[in-house]
Amino acid sequence: MVKAVVLGASGGIGQPLSLLLKANPSVTQLGLYDIVNTPGVAADLSHISTPAKVQGFLPADNGLEKVLTGAELVVIPAGIPRKPGMTRDDLFKINAGICRDLAAGVAKYAPKAFVLVISNPVNSTVPIVSEILKQHGVYDPKRIFGVTTLDVVRASTFVAEKLGDLSLSKEVVVPVVGGHSGVTIVPLLSQSSHPLPDGDHSELINRIQFGGDEVVKAKDGAGSATLSMAYAGAEFANAIIRGAFGEEKGIIVPTFVNLAADASGGEALKKELGADLDFFSARVEIGKGGVEKIHGLGKVTEAEKELVAKAVIDLKTNIDTGVQFVKGGK
Ligand code: NAI
Repeated sequence: MVKAVVLGASGGIGQPLSLLLKANPSVTQLGLYDIVNTPGVAADLSHISTPAKVQGFLPADNGLEKVLTGAELVVIPAGIPRKPGMTRDDLFKINAGICRDLAAGVAKYAPKAFVLVISNPVNSTVPIVSEILKQHGVYDPKRIFGVTTLDVVRASTFVAEKLGDLSLSKEVVVPVVGGHSGVTIVPLLSQSSHPLPDGDHSELINRIQFGGDEVVKAKDGAGSATLSMAYAGAEFANAIIRGAFGEEKGIIVPTFVNLAADASGGEALKKELGADLDFFSARVEIGKGGVEKIHGLGKVTEAEKELVAKAVIDLKTNIDTGVQFVKGGK
């Protein structure tokens, strides 16, 4: 029994993600918000024979207030996607402002909601949303998540492909830690539930880190991953629904969170990283309040330690860019 809201619901990700949320029987209300087209998307989805009552809102007539009032789970895929040759950081200028404004709405109208940030660059937009909630005095780090699930989904798929059996892809679990762009994406292949044969896996690691580029290139100017992202976003939303709203225990998913969300786990992870990072995508256990426990890296190889060290350098800059955007009032 969850009221879920999608902000950016008419977009390439927003529409299929809203479809998957409408198909989730635990969602009983689904609010759709975008600057365009939500009445049509909502009317269309509302004919699907599942429990969720669907409503669409536009900015006019206090649409943001109306959609967010009573929301328990807010997913944010609003913002522009990449075109060939662009990095996720190139999106910052536009998406930072969109996330800031939507976060202010969440702070005012749904301060207790779980917020799942998809808009890129996630490494910076999650700090932005967090800073805005802080400014409004409603910040709970246990409830704000950067969605990095697509990296996890890609890792499972590509490892299964490498093992020559795509039917394994639903079973393969590879922790992917760090952040969500380029070298900050660190797949821990040594911890794969389905071990790969010994050898050099740098090509596979590179494919997981830059898998998004394959889609951007293939779409040739028409955007970035939308369908696979919608799948990943719905999987992550469902993990939150099961762990925070259901009775299930032991749901552990990688996600980009503030390490203060679990003080002891976060401090232990910082020691492992050898860095005083505020945010990191770690394996997180989801409980009633959101982040229940932040897990450490576990046993990693020397090569993986090097990948993590590289990720930390970029992450520091990305996080700082997000924080300064809000604090500097840019
Ligand atoms: P899109 O352009 O197809 O859709 C974005 C939607 O956001 C549009 O419908 C637009 O009208 C809406 N929008 C813009 N400003 C808004 C505002 N102020 N309030 C509400 N809605 C607003 O883009 P797409 O492909 O759906 O991508 C969305 C975002 O997701 C991009 O930033 C992209 O980089 C990111 N993304 C994240 C991934 C991840 O793994 N976290 C993976 C793939 C994309």
